[in-house]
Amino acid sequence: FVNERTYQRYLQENREEEFHKLVDEGIRRVEEQLGQEYPILIGDKELRTPSKFNVRSPVDTSLTLGVFQRDDGELLRSAIKLARESYRDWKDSDWRDRVELTVKAANELRRMKYELAATITFENGKNRYEAVAEVDETIDYFNYYAQLLEENRGYTREMEGRIVKGEHGISVMRPYGPWLIISPFNFPLAITATMTLGALITGNTVVVKPSSDTPLSAYKLVTTLRRAGFSAEVVNYVTSPGEVVSKVMEENLDIAGFAFTGSREVGHRLLKQFISLKPRPAVLELGGKNATVITAKADLRKAVEGTFRGAFGFGGQKCSATSRVFVESSIYQEFLARFKARTETAQIGDPRQKSTFLGPLINKGAVDKFRRYVDQAISEGGRVITGGRVREDTRSYLVEPTIIVDLPYTSSLWRTELFVPIVLVKEVQNLKEAIRLVNDVDYGLTAGIFSQDTEEVEYFFKNVEAGVTYANRESGSTTGAMPGVQPFGGWKDSGWTGRNAGGPYYLLSFMREQARTTYD
Ligand code: ALA
Repeated sequence: FVNERTYQRYLQENREEEFHKLVDEGIRRVEEQLGQEYPILIGDKELRTPSKFNVRSPVDTSLTLGVFQRDDGELLRSAIKLARESYRDWKDSDWRDRVELTVKAANELRRMKYELAATITFENGKNRYEAVAEVDETIDYFNYYAQLLEENRGYTREMEGRIVKGEHGISVMRPYGPWLIISPFNFPLAITATMTLGALITGNTVVVKPSSDTPLSAYKLVTTLRRAGFSAEVVNYVTSPGEVVSKVMEENLDIAGFAFTGSREVGHRLLKQFISLKPRPAVLELGGKNATVITAKADLRKAVEGTFRGAFGFGGQKCSATSRVFVESSIYQEFLARFKARTETAQIGDPRQKSTFLGPLINKGAVDKFRRYVDQAISEGGRVITGGRVREDTRSYLVEPTIIVDLPYTSSLWRTELFVPIVLVKEVQNLKEAIRLVNDVDYGLTAGIFSQDTEEVEYFFKNVEAGVTYANRESGSTTGAMPGVQPFGGWKDSGWTGRNAGGPYYLLSFMREQARTTYD
């Protein structure tokens, strides 16, 4: 298994222009598809509802990316019913066949790489480098999970113990049934893929329900899986509104499991509803309030670059985004000056352009939230050292990357996931104090440190309460986990199962163990 890393490969081979040409072609292809209508997919049926919703691009809100079906619950219920029926055969499919389909799907995704990347850019405003990296991540999940199944021989194991003569035991990991997959806008392809494939490759069936801001990437994922040979009945696609989904989840006991990535508030509410009538398995990937620590022993150049990318990559709209920075006092002023200068070089604008670092926020609600948080920070005594403004653009949702200092620690902003490009920076006396503050939130997703001292780094890893930790990550401090390299998942309120996506134990969340014993 080798990670895709497309852009890095083109760079190394001095073929950057070729990369941009491919991305531009992808953009043109998606432009040609603008305004199409997309059905709900249940088995081999393409279904349309009387009520529809338009998805407009945050890159240019005059562009309608697609017209989608607004289901009132009836279609979601029939999708679950079909997923329940198709489970009867799929659960007994040979794991080697599932691996083969998965590898085929990875190849198909690779063939569509630039169209998929452009779809992401149009749908959520992600810049071209991060959009291609998201397709890479998706392909990586496919290849990595296929490898995991191989390595674990389909999760079947001989048990060595014998109590009586002639006794033979095996442990077999088996699926649960139909899973409902609810995915977020920020990684509309990769996160939809990790949950969908996690369930499918282990023998479950799925109904995929993407964020209503980004249903097109998921549509393309589902149709790609089907083209690669996954039977239509095992991978279904609905675009029901959130309130419909939450009601159906509570009542419908045919749903065996529920995988969700999104905010803590929504995740916890849905989980409570889901298990209110019957305890059932769930995989939840929730938010973060991730911190980066910069000690006096840091390489400041790396610390500045890593923190900048961690805080402002995709406008802070990642559960892994760096949103708090704790800096040791002897380097605090120097770090701030350099961090501010780096932030002011960020190109804000249309993410279709190759020079753009920061595209628009996802929607108007996010811009309103950005304004509210900046106002709150100022009214509570915080100081904006750069950014803080909304760019007046009637067709997009552009805001400035924002650094806030001197915010009293009593402010709720220190504990709230913001999901916009705002980072809070605070001076600390030492590493111990920094780690106490890092852990002083309900979340525990990612955390980073910049220090050249291995003892400091060790101390940080041992004491920090987070599921994904990094030292000296110049490419983005607390962000950018890669499948098969950095298993991604949260502790505390940031997660549920404690088995990280893209890691060696992830697939176990979608299976239950059966002990099989026979006698000679
Ligand atoms: N997996 C994404 C990251 O690590 C959210 O940034």
